[in-house]
Parts: sequence; structure tokens; C-alpha cells
Amino acid sequence: MDLSRLLQSQGFGSRAECRALIASGRVCVDGRACADWTEEFDAGQLVFSVDGTSWRYRKAAYLALHKPGGYECSHQPQHHASIYSLLPPPLVRRGVEAVGRLDQDATGLLLLSDDGGFIHRYTSPRKQVEKVYEVRTRHVVDDRQLQALLDGVKLRDDALVVAAAGCERLDDRSLRLSVTLGRYHLVKRMLAAVGNRVEALHRVAIGGFVLPPALHAGEWMWLDATDLDRLAGTAAPPRAGFADERDREGCS
Ligand code: URA
Repeated sequence: MDLSRLLQSQGFGSRAECRALIASGRVCVDGRACADWTEEFDAGQLVFSVDGTSWRYRKAAYLALHKPGGYECSHQPQHHASIYSLLPPPLVRRGVEAVGRLDQDATGLLLLSDDGGFIHRYTSPRKQVEKVYEVRTRHVVDDRQLQALLDGVKLRDDALVVAAAGCERLDDRSLRLSVTLGRYHLVKRMLAAVGNRVEALHRVAIGGFVLPPALHAGEWMWLDATDLDRLAGTAAPPRAGFADERDREGCS
């Protein structure tokens, strides 16, 4: 693939913009400035740099973002900053989209991708992908509330009865709750249905992929093949202490 097409596929602009970028000497491959946009490369494992920042060619982008509070999962946010402002522009330009949403005040694991099949797989209600939240509540969580969440609660203004896939108390006012549905304000509405209220909501896992402790609020990382297998539930979770030391290439 010629260098301009390659850069375009990775979100560095239109074909003309990429040609100009290359011609200005800002693109290096193997430590060598490549000013000729017609030069051909095997895209597969290519590592290149633009203005000194290193990138690896990726046919599709799979990312995890540790969403901080006060960010909206929208390209046109209404009242807060956009989560897309936390990503390098080429990732946004290549069409990376959030896989489902978290409320502006919610924190934790958010997946992003430009692979439509992947987004569909992890947002389709039929796939029943488990999402795990840690929830801090305004009122003490009692046994009756826990049982009701597990048995299924009727949401207000919705015909739906939703049961938690898992629910355990962490302390008097916090619990870990798993759901397989994706629905507007789902966890907040489930807690409201049992007479409680969410004070803080943090997503810790999707499928078998757990938010790495080393990924701090506002940071993002590439998902590698093992991460994707974990997400799909086909690989074991990381050993304790291992995730912290993993290669953090690409983290912001
Ligand atoms: N449930 C909610 O209420 N909010 C979220 O952001 C995610 C799940």
C-alpha cells in the first residue's frame, strides 16, 4: 500500500492532506523520513511516526478508555466535554465510536472501535454481554433490595422487568451489580425501582475484560488479541499484578 493511502486509513486526513504531510518530511518509517508518498509498504506490521509520535498500522481500532466523570459519550456534547476529546485526533478521524454509552457522571470502562461488526456484537441486546458496575448508593442496601434486583425489578415508564445477572453487597452503601442489557440509565433506574438511589457509578468490566488498574481516569489503551479474547470470554483474566505491568504502548 502506498504511504499516503496507508496514513489515510489510519486517520491522518484526506489523501491530499496525507500526501502533503509526507512531502513535508514529518513522516518516518524505520527512523527514516519518507518524503515520497508513492513509496509502497507492507501495511501488516508497519510502525511509522508522525511528528515523532509512533503509530502501528491497525486494520481496525479496538480501544479501552477509562472514562472520567463529567464527559459525555457524544460528538456533540450538550453540557460537558466529549469523551472523543480524550483521544488523539487520528483515532477520531478514522471513525472510532463508543461501544454503548456511559452517563456523563458515570466512570470506568468504555470500549471504542471503528469496526461496525464489533460495535454491534457488544451492543446488541441479543448477545447478552455482561457489564459489571460498582455502585455507591444514597441509602443502605438491604437484603430485600439485593433480592429484588436479582429477582427482577419493574422499571418506571417501561414495560420491562430487568433482573441483575449478579448482585453482591460490598459494604452498607455499595454493591457490585452485573447486567446484560444496555438501556438508558439502566442501573440508576433499577436502583430507583427498589427505593434506593445511585450516588456514583463505575463500570469495572465488560464480558471477561476488566478495566486494568494501571489505566487511570482519562487514559486509553489499544486492545490486543488477548484483551479481545478476554472480552469474548475465551481467555483467562489477567493474573493479579500482571495487568499493571503490561505493555502500555499507545496509552495516553
Ligand atoms: N446504567 C446507568 O444508569 N448509567 C450508565 O451510565 C450505565 C448503566
